[in-house]
Amino acid sequence: MSALDSLLQDQTLLPDYYKNQSDNALIRQISTIKKDLGSHLYLPGHHYQKDEIIQFADDTGDSLKLAQLSATNKEASYIVFCGVHFMAETADILTDEHQQVVLPDMRAGCSMADMANYAQTEVAWEALTEQFGDTIIPLTYVNSTAEIKAFVGRHGGACVTSSNAKQIVTWALKQKKRILFLPDQHLGRNTAHDLGIPLDEMIIWDPIAGKLEETDHPEEVKVLLWKGHCSVHENFRMEHVKQLREKEPDRRILVHPECTWEVVQASDDAGSTSYIINQIKNAPAGSKWAIGTEMNLVRRLIQDNPHLDITSLNPYMCPCLTMNRIDLPHLAWSLDQIVKGSPVNTIRVPITVAKDAQKALQRMLSLV
Ligand code: 13P
Ligand code: SF4
Repeated sequence: MSALDSLLQDQTLLPDYYKNQSDNALIRQISTIKKDLGSHLYLPGHHYQKDEIIQFADDTGDSLKLAQLSATNKEASYIVFCGVHFMAETADILTDEHQQVVLPDMRAGCSMADMANYAQTEVAWEALTEQFGDTIIPLTYVNSTAEIKAFVGRHGGACVTSSNAKQIVTWALKQKKRILFLPDQHLGRNTAHDLGIPLDEMIIWDPIAGKLEETDHPEEVKVLLWKGHCSVHENFRMEHVKQLREKEPDRRILVHPECTWEVVQASDDAGSTSYIINQIKNAPAGSKWAIGTEMNLVRRLIQDNPHLDITSLNPYMCPCLTMNRIDLPHLAWSLDQIVKGSPVNTIRVPITVAKDAQKALQRMLSLV
């Protein structure tokens, strides 16, 4: 579901009461409810969440870890997902019927996930299979709607995350000659290139124009890249890398693979949020780093590692606005409503969609 769809849905908006509480009052309220609900409540938090939320997370993780944890938690009746809409959908698909997933603010969407809708995907599939025949397997980054995951599941494909993309693309290319990679062209291109596929064997499908980029050697094409991107990571540009290399050649540049291929190539290293955290954890004291990922995480890395010199690759970077929508007032409100027996902002993926989306997610989970 797009962020706009979520807004248009009939949903209760945050009552003024929570907007008017002090942070301290909200923190006390959340702590009390968490204690009272005990293991009936599970609160996963993505690494991009702000500190005011992370302090309450039962587990923090990247998209892969949070999907795995959601699949194994059988105890909690309520999973209050502190992340974005597609992550909460994934949790709903992977959890049992008796478990309810809540997203504290329904406006916490993902601009990248909104770049591929179901109708566009059907148009693309029809055109691409007409051109290339039965040679394509679809893969979708987990940063996609449940409907896209269901499409991929129905067509024998799998989900990928930034930490397992290489393994899943390798698997996919053993199944079929070509992959259609949705919706992030950059993760698709970076991963395929890492696996030794030359750029001229990759081609872009433009879902708005409804057509494939021109090529004079269609037979050699192996990777069909959906023209989508992360609006946060596209703000790390070559000019930032160049400026930094000139000014501080000894600063290591570490970026997320949602950055463009050029930026990833010009950097020293790239990997998922967990990979970035691990690299920093193991860095020698006094070492200098410029990180190209979401700002809440970069700020936390700076705070937690005073023995390192860490900056953002783009000095004017902002946090992911949709991740940032999860805040103390929304968390307190959603927990309060659970206690009152009338949870708000519950995520329920329709069973027909969930069944096929689960196939794509389980294929991924069984491979990593
Ligand atoms: P990972 O945490 O899996 O690296 O994903 C980053 C991201 O953009 C999530 O939206
Ligand atoms: Fe989506 Fe990018 Fe925000 Fe991740 S950082 S949730 S991909 S917009």
